[in-house]
Amino acid sequence: MPKAPTILIVNGPNLNMLGSRDPALYGRDSLADIEKACRRRAGEIGLAVDFRQSNHEGEIVTWIQEARGRAAGLIINAGAYSHSSIAILDALQLADFPVIEVHLSNIFRRESYRRHSYVSEAARGIICGLGSLGYRLALDAMAQFLKTEKEV
Ligand code: DQA
Repeated sequence: MPKAPTILIVNGPNLNMLGSRDPALYGRDSLADIEKACRRRAGEIGLAVDFRQSNHEGEIVTWIQEARGRAAGLIINAGAYSHSSIAILDALQLADFPVIEVHLSNIFRRESYRRHSYVSEAARGIICGLGSLGYRLALDAMAQFLKTEKEV
């Protein structure tokens, strides 16, 4: 059987605190719950998942660089780095795979400094405000992209 394409899912700073971090904004699911749900969904749609979290900008940059030639797609919730990191944007612009940006909260309903995301400049699409469901929807979208791109 051919190997399932791997989708790298990268989570940025403070997302390791999900579950106890402001549940009204981010929901009650822990990051481990989200990972479990992503693995389940990926299995159903023929994808494999490499799920990671880091509080360090440089580590995230390295992961994105290393994914070139290896990952079939990237789903990224860069947390607060979305709004500040030109280094992550630069790494994303070198990506040879589709990028989907996810945020649990609706960043457009919050403080004005969250309304701009550097990640968006390199993303095929953005899902925000749908809580942990956003990750699963991003996986579905990724499966669709990979299918249509194979057919072209
Ligand atoms: C977030 C939104 C960011 O503004 C915030 O800094 C986060 C989480 C979200 O998933 O809603 O850490 O990316």
